[in-house]
Amino acid sequence: MTAEAVRPAEPSLRERALTALTAARARTRLLTDAVTDEDLTAQHSPLMSPLVWDLAHIGNQEELWLLRNVAGRDPLHPEIDPLYDAFAHPRAERPRLPLLGPAEARRYAAEVRGRVFDVLAATPLEGTPLLDSAFAFGMIAQHEQQHDETMLITHQLRRGEPVLSAPDPDPPAGPPPAVREVLVPAGPFTMGTSTEPWALDNERPAHRRETAAFWIDTVPVTCADYRAFVTDGGYHERSWWAPEGWEQIRKHGIEAPLFWHREGTVWLRRRFGVTEPVPDDEPVLHVSWYEADAYARWAGRRLPTEAEWEKAARHDPATGRSTRYPWGDADPTPAHANLGQRHLRPAPAGSYPAGASPLGVRQLIGDVWEWTASDFLPYPGFRAFPYREYSEVFFGPAHKVLRGGSFAVDPVACRGTFRNWDLPVRRQIFAGFRTARDA
Ligand SMILES: [Fe+2]
Repeated sequence: MTAEAVRPAEPSLRERALTALTAARARTRLLTDAVTDEDLTAQHSPLMSPLVWDLAHIGNQEELWLLRNVAGRDPLHPEIDPLYDAFAHPRAERPRLPLLGPAEARRYAAEVRGRVFDVLAATPLEGTPLLDSAFAFGMIAQHEQQHDETMLITHQLRRGEPVLSAPDPDPPAGPPPAVREVLVPAGPFTMGTSTEPWALDNERPAHRRETAAFWIDTVPVTCADYRAFVTDGGYHERSWWAPEGWEQIRKHGIEAPLFWHREGTVWLRRRFGVTEPVPDDEPVLHVSWYEADAYARWAGRRLPTEAEWEKAARHDPATGRSTRYPWGDADPTPAHANLGQRHLRPAPAGSYPAGASPLGVRQLIGDVWEWTASDFLPYPGFRAFPYREYSEVFFGPAHKVLRGGSFAVDPVACRGTFRNWDLPVRRQIFAGFRTARDA
């Protein structure tokens, strides 16, 4: 048996699906209306699709799952399906495809959405795994929000004047944590979930996991912490680096996080078109797994494993139960975490005391994705659902797991169990890290 949270009462799942789909589309519109048609069709980095590809792909996945699979409708425009199949065309190739233009892509996504609202109102939300708990609708809202995060990364890579703005996070609502690290005791805990209705296949099922006792940072590694590694010559000392990481930084001449540069003795960074001093107290962003790993070795520490991260985030030592979030089972509010692109940056380290875990670990959710030491692997009892390409094809040693979500992640796609993964060389994602050590 596993001890897992039971979901609290909440508005009906139909209402929750409607709200989640509507919120995702408002964000998609914000990100795509902020730039010109020329910007929408341009490729701002070979790592990214043109924004107009993401927009029509969002509509195409929604049509595929909600109109065709759930409602049994015929394809609206079968001829465009191959263009928006993420597996058929790598990102670098997408600008050369005969893609829908900005106006057509907007029209298509809106046409699909109008029909989906009719389907949502008329379809019983039970009887098949796709319909139970409105899973397919929740999956599509998460998919759109994940592409919104991808589009925000494209905005960060885009050169030119700023087009997005948001208020800065408030200063921390209370004193910083009293200690730099806390001891998480040895023993079993419940990892993953079998009860969270919109959890994706790779988060399932709930299972028991043992960890030894370990220490973990109460806040993410800050820019000031990381700068000390840079100025100590960390990028020139081979012994801190995994061999592939060393090769990577030598080959590309990497000497600091992506978007950082030095003028005289001052470190500056570019953030959504604005150049500004690197803020000391903010969690560091835009470092690869290799950079996080090297920093941790330099600091005499290591990255937490994925199981350690989740235990620190969900395990309540007082009850032995795993909660949905560090603060308990309630959905995130702005007092708990920096999520949902309310801000265009992480909040200072030590923010969100209301979002702390029972042991006092802060900012596990929101602010920055956190690299873990672990490869992306299936849990015991994993079953691919609803399609192998969601996660199964990515399992293996090539991808490292990231946890916790960033300021660019919507609450609908963020939970204590949520798993993200990427190649260890990737730096454009909104990723930072915290460190751990054996007890
Ligand atoms: Fe996608």
